Amino acid sequence: MEKINAIITGVGGYVPDYILTNEELSRMVDTTDEWIMERVGIKERRILTEEGLGTSYMARKAAKQLLEKTGADPDSIDALIVTTTTPDYKFPSTASIVIGKLGLKNAFGFDFSAACCGFLYSLDVASTMIQSGRYKRIIVIAADKMSSVVDYTDRQTCVLFGDGAAAVLVEGTTEENVGVQDSFLRTDGKGLPFLHMKAGGSVCPASQFTVDRRLHYLYQEGRTVFKYAVTSMSSDIMEILKRNNLSGDDVAWVVPHEANLRIIEAVAKRANVPLEKVIINIQHYGNTSAATIPLALWDEEAKLKKGDNLIFTAFGAGFVHGASYYKWVYDGASATAKK
Ligand code: ACO
Repeated sequence: MEKINAIITGVGGYVPDYILTNEELSRMVDTTDEWIMERVGIKERRILTEEGLGTSYMARKAAKQLLEKTGADPDSIDALIVTTTTPDYKFPSTASIVIGKLGLKNAFGFDFSAACCGFLYSLDVASTMIQSGRYKRIIVIAADKMSSVVDYTDRQTCVLFGDGAAAVLVEGTTEENVGVQDSFLRTDGKGLPFLHMKAGGSVCPASQFTVDRRLHYLYQEGRTVFKYAVTSMSSDIMEILKRNNLSGDDVAWVVPHEANLRIIEAVAKRANVPLEKVIINIQHYGNTSAATIPLALWDEEAKLKKGDNLIFTAFGAGFVHGASYYKWVYDGASATAKK
């Protein structure tokens, strides 16, 4: 059998209309636009404010746009993966809700939990499924409604996160040297004390006690996470460059997880990649967890050209981290015309 390569053939995205600015946050907690811009680099983030709408709503919107842009027949989709830390419900899966709403008759779907590395990990899983020859078309959606787990009385975390979703279509080709080329993915398991949600899982189910103590929000020790994020993402990039005999000159774009502009700058510096080659959109959306990388692809699709070497890198709760080498297969400018 000829070798099959997994390629991304389209990108769809969705961000809610509501814009939460630094100015508005500074009326909610003791913070300022200056502090947030200097320490984090976020100007505004999108928030899904409508009651009764969850992650599946944004995921569905992103996937719908993806189907429209690519012209893919919904009946031809074999599988749909939703990677998220903020599923609609503990069960059923958010993927099952999205499949139902989109009317994908021939697809199976599942949720994939890898925090901010969700896109990196699930792209690798989808690409392996495609390479096996058993599946032809897979939708990977990275979506998070971070506002549902953020404490808007805690200035240390509420300025960091936003809501959003993006979806890619993963298909196979026998064309050589395109698509997913290599992935270096790791889970080190040391992150639990530094980044987690204390209650709501099987260790500490929801109760009056957990609600009274505000244990259903994201907890993090920012400085520790910062250090691990910089060290891990920069060494992951260097590893993936080294084992693919690439130098910074060979790379068209680095697309990093967007958590803090200072993290991105430090990673680029350590990995010796000029900042002009790094796609940055954190100022508009904040940290949308799993969604940041595909949202950046969606936002900047017009810049991407056939043959571009892309490096994806991410870091998140667990700790999970890694980098992937991806060769882009189409001119993004023509695709954005359909956005
Ligand atoms: N406004 C004003 N002051 C603030 C704010 C705020 N929003 N938040 C914290 N401060 C104060 C602190 O209270 C502290 O004051 P003190 O010196 O009087 O005690 C001071 O600012 C410095 O606080 P630090 O925590 O040391 O600030 P730091 O420069 O480390 O920035 C931040 C904090 C932004 C959280 C940073 O550590 C960070 O980005 N960490 C990584 C976070 C991250 O990326 N998390 C997600 C990754 S994984 C995932 O995406 C799920």
